[in-house]
Amino acid sequence: MTNRLDAVVSSIVEGVRNALREHDVTFEEYRKGFKFMMDVAEAKELPLLMDLFLNTTIVEIQNRQAQGSPSDLEGPYFRSDVPLVTDKIKTMPEFGGTPLVLRGHVKDTDGNPVEGATIFVWSSTPDGKYSGFHDNIPVDYYRGKLLSGAGGAYSVESTVPVPYQIKNNGPTGALLEAMGRHSWRPAHVHYKIRKDGYKDLTTQAYFEGGEWVGDDCCEGKLTDDFVIAETVEDGKHVMDIDFVIERAA
Ligand code: DHB
Ligand code: FE
Repeated sequence: MTNRLDAVVSSIVEGVRNALREHDVTFEEYRKGFKFMMDVAEAKELPLLMDLFLNTTIVEIQNRQAQGSPSDLEGPYFRSDVPLVTDKIKTMPEFGGTPLVLRGHVKDTDGNPVEGATIFVWSSTPDGKYSGFHDNIPVDYYRGKLLSGAGGAYSVESTVPVPYQIKNNGPTGALLEAMGRHSWRPAHVHYKIRKDGYKDLTTQAYFEGGEWVGDDCCEGKLTDDFVIAETVEDGKHVMDIDFVIERAA
């Protein structure tokens, strides 16, 4: 029997060694890199660093096998302890923001509607914060869970999110800056669709033509499937998405 752990770790180590050789990395640089990793751990930024460089690769691998809709980064801001919402997600009037209707259908891989699926949605405030994490915004704002109804249909209203700047005041931010890179993600809406007997689908949707859509610091948006042309109906922006979920093995 082959030892998968040994195979994977050995390949990772060999990949890193090859990078060091390719760039003639000096002992001094090696020590700087080493210190960087200690700083990242101390600042508790390991999840941030992984989101930035490796998480989407795992999602990409997962998507190669998937029969349902493509997955995307979950990010650090999912919460399951959110209220059930029907027509409107709570938003704060003082933040303003353009109304956004999230609607569409949940289907299975045969195209049949899936009723009673739980759809978690979460997105930033109109000033780029996440409730339950930033500025003491209560967790029942700008997020919620809804259920797909007849024909697999869902619809809920929130506000249009904005581009999001990841935490950039620690070692990870300093690295990005030194590399000449930015720390922005395009505006996006997070979704997690859950139904007994099916695999969870965790994904994100983006706005066609939105800033950073083609240049996401986390290299999300692995496909264009969920880059949505926003339509406007009665002054409300609409993001219309059908999700396909796959039966659990
Ligand atoms: C991060 C933040 C997000 O809102 C997201 O969708 C993905 C990653 C982050 O800070 O790492
Ligand atoms: Fe996000």
